Amino acid sequence: MTHNQFDKKSEAWSALFSEPMSDLVKRYTASVFFDKRLWQADIAGSLAHAQMLAAQNIISAADRDAIERGLAAVAAEIEAGQFEWKLDLEDVHLNIEARLTQLVGDAGKRLHTGRSRNDQVATDVRLWLRGEIDLIGGLLADLQRALLDVAEKNADAILPGFTHLQVAQPISFGHHLLAYVEMFSRDGERMSEVRQRTNRLPLGAAALAGTSYPLDREHVARTLGMVDDQGRPQLCQNSLDAVSDRDFAVEFSAAAALCMVHISRFSEELVLWMSQNFGFVRIADRFTTGSSIMPQKKNPDVPELARGKTGRVVGHLMGLLTLMKGQPLAYNKDNQEDKEPLFDSVDTLKDTLRIFCEMVGGQLNPASGLKEGGISVNTQRMEDAARKGYATATDLADYLVRRGLAFRDAHEIVAQAVKAAIAQELDLSDLPLEVLQQFSPRIDQDVYQVLGLRGALEARDILGGTAPRQVRAQIARHRARLG
Ligand code: ARG
Repeated sequence: MTHNQFDKKSEAWSALFSEPMSDLVKRYTASVFFDKRLWQADIAGSLAHAQMLAAQNIISAADRDAIERGLAAVAAEIEAGQFEWKLDLEDVHLNIEARLTQLVGDAGKRLHTGRSRNDQVATDVRLWLRGEIDLIGGLLADLQRALLDVAEKNADAILPGFTHLQVAQPISFGHHLLAYVEMFSRDGERMSEVRQRTNRLPLGAAALAGTSYPLDREHVARTLGMVDDQGRPQLCQNSLDAVSDRDFAVEFSAAAALCMVHISRFSEELVLWMSQNFGFVRIADRFTTGSSIMPQKKNPDVPELARGKTGRVVGHLMGLLTLMKGQPLAYNKDNQEDKEPLFDSVDTLKDTLRIFCEMVGGQLNPASGLKEGGISVNTQRMEDAARKGYATATDLADYLVRRGLAFRDAHEIVAQAVKAAIAQELDLSDLPLEVLQQFSPRIDQDVYQVLGLRGALEARDILGGTAPRQVRAQIARHRARLG
């Protein structure tokens, strides 16, 4: 049996060391129990590296074949849950390489030629994150589709639009949901931009300075799909930057945090809308919980938790920025701390998007082929709330402007009319014509068309406006965009 450095690893790192690591230091410095989730990326990166090494005649074809065979066996063991992850071997990279060498002998020891764990880990994290970004992009599209379904059903439903959480003007509930579709579509754009900068190859940078072996970096990039839309290989162009930069992770975390902030705002609205005081919407019972003491309660736990979890994703962004701020070039062990925040942001965002897709759009009933149990709307409650809030006061002012008054004068006149209506606990549209005419003789019978909620809604028939016709046009545009 040839001498294997990994057999000695539990004692000391190499011949250079006079004593082994203490158990405490081992536990402190090891990352295997969280970075093992990179195993697929690690094996993909090693396979691409080995194939290139053989193509460049740096290792033999026989060694390459042995490495391929060994890594396939390692992958099978991991998938079957039979792989023994060892703390002594510090991280996912050393664990896999050690097992490979156990399985195939000397060929395994040649795999690391021209490579360092520094460019290896940077490659693994990029490959892994690329896959996650693709999943997140799909979930963002699903959530937009779910919102579009509910928006379409409710294009004509009237909701009081708020500013300062005070009733402002009537809007379509569909229009309100489309605001979130816009946000999530930009989140999707941001994710694909982050993907482009994530999908670049560090391998070849080795420890920090590049390598003296004649590696074909483009070959590796092509094998790993690290190419642009024209199929051109995307390589990190500076070895120091390649091993030490984590700005793709920071950018991803920023995009994830912003997406969670959008979800959090939506959650806050759902919580408000579901409260007895609003009573605008319902979500399916399975997204709510009861109270252990108050039998009447149905609490919107899912939106509340999503709002709460936004805090940790925003926190991870701050954590990663702080992790980077004092590091000299090139690789430092600090970088190992990039993983847990990144992993947790990915997990939290994916889970949240998944649960929101179902909570908003409902779940497919295989029997009927229809989605059931999404957001349902109490249009009467919403419309009543809009009516109570004098949501058409602006429309009365605009009416007076059309009849020759300056807007500021019209504004003042309408304020007086609203004051009178409040005193009598009436809506503007309940005031008789004679009463309205006391505020301005320019008011005629046709004023009641603009004082009605529906007329006010339909009047805002401008691109981006709330008129149901515009809402339907936007829904069609989004559907075409999402395909
Ligand atoms: N586990 C390490 C990390 O996550 C891998 C790179 C280790 N490199 C080193 N020079 N110690 O960053």
